[in-house]
Amino acid sequence: MQRWVTTLTSMSDTNTEVSSAYPPSAEFAENANATEELYRTAEADRLAFWAEQANRLSWATPFTEVLDWSEAPFAKWFADGKLNVSYNCVDRHVEAGNGDRVAIHWVGEPVDDARTITYAELKDEVSRAANALTELGLVSGDRVAIYMPMVPEAIVAMLACARLGVMHSVVFAGYSASALRARIDDAEAKLVITTDGQYRRGKAVSLKTAVDEAVAGQGTVEHVVVVRRTGIDIEWSDGRDVWWHDVVDAASEDHTPAAFDAEHPLFLLYTSGTTGKPKGIVHTSGGYLTQTSYTHYNVFDIKPETDVYWCTADIGWVTGHTYLVYGPLSNGATQVVYEGTPASPTEHRHFEIIEKYGVTIYYTAPTLIRTFMKLGRQIPAEHDLSSLRLLGSVGEPINPEAWRWYRTVFGADSTPIVDTWWQTETGSIMISPLPGVTDTKPGSAMTPLPGISAKIVDDDGNQLEPGTGHGEQVSGYLVLDKPWPSMLRGIWGDPDRFKETYWSRFAEQGWYFAGDGARYGSDGEIWVLGRIDDVMNVSGHRISTAEVESALVGHSGVAEAAVVGASDDTTGQAICAFVILKARFADEDRDDMVNELRKQVATEISPIARPREIHVVPELPKTRSGKIMRRLLRDVAEGRELGDTSTLLDPSVFEAIRASK
Ligand code: WT7
Repeated sequence: MQRWVTTLTSMSDTNTEVSSAYPPSAEFAENANATEELYRTAEADRLAFWAEQANRLSWATPFTEVLDWSEAPFAKWFADGKLNVSYNCVDRHVEAGNGDRVAIHWVGEPVDDARTITYAELKDEVSRAANALTELGLVSGDRVAIYMPMVPEAIVAMLACARLGVMHSVVFAGYSASALRARIDDAEAKLVITTDGQYRRGKAVSLKTAVDEAVAGQGTVEHVVVVRRTGIDIEWSDGRDVWWHDVVDAASEDHTPAAFDAEHPLFLLYTSGTTGKPKGIVHTSGGYLTQTSYTHYNVFDIKPETDVYWCTADIGWVTGHTYLVYGPLSNGATQVVYEGTPASPTEHRHFEIIEKYGVTIYYTAPTLIRTFMKLGRQIPAEHDLSSLRLLGSVGEPINPEAWRWYRTVFGADSTPIVDTWWQTETGSIMISPLPGVTDTKPGSAMTPLPGISAKIVDDDGNQLEPGTGHGEQVSGYLVLDKPWPSMLRGIWGDPDRFKETYWSRFAEQGWYFAGDGARYGSDGEIWVLGRIDDVMNVSGHRISTAEVESALVGHSGVAEAAVVGASDDTTGQAICAFVILKARFADEDRDDMVNELRKQVATEISPIARPREIHVVPELPKTRSGKIMRRLLRDVAEGRELGDTSTLLDPSVFEAIRASK
């Protein structure tokens, strides 16, 4: 085995503090957008600081009030201001004379399939799409589901919605028809935008079929707009289905964007919680765009004239929304958008793209870095990666070994790495180094950004002491103790769940509890340890144990199911399920049954939620009150000694579970 291959065995490796810190080079620091000064300004007057950041945007009506927190936890930022988010991402760059600048270098999955879109072209296309959506009857406040692969039209569709004050709800194109249906129903979407098909590892596969299934008999969807991507045969429902090229290409490219209130809702994005029902996270306009634009500019040190930025996330996740659509476009940046998977057609693909487009800033997830690490240095060594000057990581804690490999192999041992902590709910980055300021430690997201406040506290809300770096390291809850502009404004249609989920743990103090555990390092920096609730993180995708359990018990053969996330050296966590079969299925072939169950989860939710392991067990470990003890199942799944079993109803169940593993 090569020396640099990771042998990460448990997530705790992530948090091994090392003494060496990595300061930015003098050259980087000198030219950086963000300096130490930013912390000082924010510290001196937080709200004035945010007003200044908001004024980087173009407002149709300037705001006079920065924050209204009187109805906490329902925040209002810049409430009396008005703006158009799409205008800020597109038109104003054209008006500033930068219409010829490339907005998007789009790279299709099939090799040689590429498009270059300037800001002027993007403006025309977004305007046409906005006119087309208006023709289809959409008005401000409506909801549109976008279920598309990474094609330029997906970004255009999002911006067209934003332009009209219509909320988009992007549903990851890897989700199943039933997951799409649940999201369409919850949002009562009037329109779905999709493609005929998508490329998956060189093959054109259908996508519209899933939409047909999802909207069959559904009451709110009036039209399905279809982008022709692959040309594969699809079914057509006359009157309901319309081609994008028919309605958009025919529309006028003149469209005057209306100004909307800063608190006008911008989008809904569904994410997993601790129950089976996904939550529609609501984000609004002015505050979201302010923090999104500010963080993108300062954390990624964007120089719009010279940088070629690449965020590898899919638009189906919040990273795609914030750092592929609204962040880079609000800053007038030039970026690469890649349609396919990293191994298509070969493992060289990402490196070829970096080389070909001269990518300067690359933002990806630890799981991909670990995958590259396993493949070895030969592949990257065949490519000129010298254009890279800044690297980013997001989605889960990055283990120090992967961090160092990333810096050495991608970054010629010299580029700063920004390890960015945030969530769908926070809207944009909260905790991260500033690349020209912070001495980084591999594995730590370091400190809250200027303007942001976060604390690690114990059960009673007392702030932990910064660690000594030696001996016992105490962990606690990561809380956000002050409101921030891009914070979620609620859960769609469920204000009680919003309060209960995020604001009840530290209700007395009025803090937001993020669901993550963390500890302080020796310099007071933050080490995020991962979720402490029943939410798993698989390759940076958030999946709830309850969602997978409900998919499993949806199978007629399953009596009971318990799901845990066990550490996995590539995906961070992997899904392990324990199921009890109904008596009449006891004689079925186990392998067939397990395969069927894995398929069931893929169809109910998505292939990304397919369990790595399913164990058929005679019993599940429960407390006397009937609660499944997931902690103990995690011990089993990770092959550890069992933790405290004293609260178990029947400690002997583990003999049986072990025997069936
Ligand atoms: C959860 C949020 C943020 C966009 C992608 C995921 C984990 C995210 C980090 C990081 C340690 C991280 C947390 C968080 N997480 N970034 N840099 N270090 N953990 O968004 O699906 O809303 O998941 O991802 O556990 O709570 P999400």
